[in-house]
Amino acid sequence: MITLGVLASGSGTNLQAVLDAIAAGKLDARIAVVVSNVPGAGALDRARAAGVEAVVVEHTRHADRRSFDAAVVDVLRAHGVEWVVLAGFMRLLTDVLLDAFPMHVVNIHPALLPSFPGVHAQRQALAYGVRITGCTVHLVDRGTDTGPIVAQAAVPVRDGDDEETLRLRILEREHELLPRVLQWIAEGRVVVQPAGPAPLRPRVRLRGVEGSVNVDLD
Ligand code: GRF
Repeated sequence: MITLGVLASGSGTNLQAVLDAIAAGKLDARIAVVVSNVPGAGALDRARAAGVEAVVVEHTRHADRRSFDAAVVDVLRAHGVEWVVLAGFMRLLTDVLLDAFPMHVVNIHPALLPSFPGVHAQRQALAYGVRITGCTVHLVDRGTDTGPIVAQAAVPVRDGDDEETLRLRILEREHELLPRVLQWIAEGRVVVQPAGPAPLRPRVRLRGVEGSVNVDLD
């Protein structure tokens, strides 16, 4: 069993998917705490409804990103968190948090990285005109959505899609992919290999997982 801390700024549907997977016995984890920088975030209500402690750390009350991260690290450590899950957390992390949980921070992004990092990934995909997009679960490094990729799921772009329809179709896949990756982590299947000779970056090897990169969730 792994102990998770979830950071979320929004409605928290990915948090809900993780809570549901735990309740269904599909994910051998417990969420020790949910932290949000947004006092009214739906994720906080979802946490409380599931009996999980919900903590607000307002970034507006901190002078800079580093002191905000230090406050978040204090909360995570106080709850014995081993793995940090970014589930719609709209703050860039600094080395303060990343060094406290090295290669133990997981993010879900609504595009097939390295395409369309940053905000408005679905808008970027529509603007570019790609036919396939999707979602990516990756470990977090110092860049924006640049860390080692753990798993991806593809989602077709349909004629007539707008940002919202595409967002919702991707979100369905996110809700499957994130708990699955967390279960792989709980099983010790996610192994980080150091960077090889340039241009090889640090990468994730999935021990005993079929279809390791393009996960077929059908
Ligand atoms: C998701 O699309 C996730 O990929 C992105 O932020 C969104 C969060 O949605 N990082 P929710 O709060 O989990 O519903």
